[in-house]
Amino acid sequence: MIINFSDDQDEVKVSKEAVALLKQGLQAVAKLHKLSAKTEVSVSLVNDEVIHVLNKDYRGIDRPTDVLSFALDEAEEPQEIGGPETHLLGDIIISAETAVRQGREYGHGFNRELVYLGVHSLLHLLGYDHMNKEDKAVMRQEEEKALQMIHLSQADLDRGTGKDDPDHFAVAVVDAEPEKSVKKGKQKDTASEKIKPVKNRKKSDNNAKEGKKSMGRKDVKATDKTIKKLFKKVLKTRENAYVPFSNFKVGAAVLTKSGDIYTGCNVENSSFGLTVCAERVAMFNAAAAGVRPREITMLLVAADTEDVTSPCGACRQVMAEFEIPVIVMANIRGDMKTVSLEELLPFSFKAADFA
Ligand code: THU
Repeated sequence: MIINFSDDQDEVKVSKEAVALLKQGLQAVAKLHKLSAKTEVSVSLVNDEVIHVLNKDYRGIDRPTDVLSFALDEAEEPQEIGGPETHLLGDIIISAETAVRQGREYGHGFNRELVYLGVHSLLHLLGYDHMNKEDKAVMRQEEEKALQMIHLSQADLDRGTGKDDPDHFAVAVVDAEPEKSVKKGKQKDTASEKIKPVKNRKKSDNNAKEGKKSMGRKDVKATDKTIKKLFKKVLKTRENAYVPFSNFKVGAAVLTKSGDIYTGCNVENSSFGLTVCAERVAMFNAAAAGVRPREITMLLVAADTEDVTSPCGACRQVMAEFEIPVIVMANIRGDMKTVSLEELLPFSFKAADFA
């Protein structure tokens, strides 16, 4: 599994060892669940203030929490052969400040708390929940299995295994964090829960405040990461452009609702009219894997242009066929402009016009 880790807070000094342990914990879950090497998860450490805003916006709960899981996909793992290049599982957002507090409260330290929260959150992304007693027991068992693999399970804590290894139960350094009395105890229930992908949210969900604010992931930092990810893929695929005539390399990628990414580059031909643009190659690549209209959430295109790269009319028509709502026009230096399909191709020709 690919783990995109970023420490986006300054309040807690998180050691390299803590990050390494967190990654080991996540990889243990990946191994136990036989996740493919193409599966990707983003993990971000934030402060209480940031997680408070996310908790309020997405769950309607007006306070910080320890961890939030933003699922991109609830589907099965994609097939390896003919499957997408990458499978984005979602985002894990952990409050480092809360992890410090909880690590102290439960007496097992920051590192173990951090790993626990990561493992718990990844299991949420894989569909586990703790809504009722039975589900909770299953989820707790899965947590233990993963944590056992890195000697950080509750059983290890009870036995004191690893106590001589300072990294295992280390407490992070927090500026001006008051010491709290240590209350030894079993792992508490994390307050957070998986946040469903927008497509699956029901009006009844307390985190779905329809109309209050755009619920689209584009408002949260996580989406910036998704765009960055797409952009990276686009630059890589652009290198494969077959352009003996124009020498103008273009790369493109589409992101599906289930978090899969399909890429494309332009492929030219001596019979010039047969040239196919990068955007269409990306869309057709997705279609060949079974992706259908309304299943693509975003397309990103980039070339070495002064301003951002604007898709040709033919590609816009194909985007209209697939009803891709968001198009990110970029250049290889990373300048980006996001537009809607309607802005790119108003009055487009649709199947409904002749059906
Ligand atoms: N091209 C694309 O790949 N996408 C576009 O949106 C515009 C043009 C390619 C096609 C051809 O290989 C080269 O750029 C010059 O037209």
